[in-house]
Amino acid sequence: MKHTKFIIPIFIGIFSFLFVACGNEVKQEVITDASLVEVSETNPNGDSELALLMRKMFEDGEDIKKLITNNEGNITEEYIAELEKIHTAIPTDEDVKTPEFEAYTKLMIQEANLLFSNDSNRVQGFNNLVNRCIECHQSFCPGPIKRIKKLTIQ
Ligand code: HEC
Repeated sequence: MKHTKFIIPIFIGIFSFLFVACGNEVKQEVITDASLVEVSETNPNGDSELALLMRKMFEDGEDIKKLITNNEGNITEEYIAELEKIHTAIPTDEDVKTPEFEAYTKLMIQEANLLFSNDSNRVQGFNNLVNRCIECHQSFCPGPIKRIKKLTIQ
């Protein structure tokens, strides 16, 4: 059984390589599962502009969720401006910037504008927006989907 000692790190190597473009969420899960925390290495290239932007979109999304849930506010123009930065932000993996990626970005911004202008059903509008996040992630970056789903207002 000695050889398993080598197989596990090899697997981790492969997994971290595959998921480095989508944040280190999945990588960390794999490492924790294997209880080999000492092998853990945060993204050695630093986080991409797009990854940092996404993280901020997520955190600010949590704030907007709270505002809408408590009926205290709505999405803001600042948040929509943040989403628009996706068009120019540099991703970890340059190949993600395809016409399909652009289309998903546009759909999401449309949804955000709809929520901004149509105040009557904010909960539904916000959940539609979260679904737009998930749609793109299904094609380009499945790692964070579980986390993004938590933004949904029940
Ligand atoms: C057009 C496609 C697309 C849309 C729409 C999108 N994402 Fe992303 N997201 C990505 C890609 C690609 C990455 C990987 C970024 C990288 O590593 O450069 C990512 C990364 C992330 C991450 C991980 C960031 C990290 O810590 O590394 C989170 C969290 C995230 N997105 C949340 C969201 C939320 C919330 C929304 C909606 C408000 C959203 N995303 C909309 C494509 C998208």
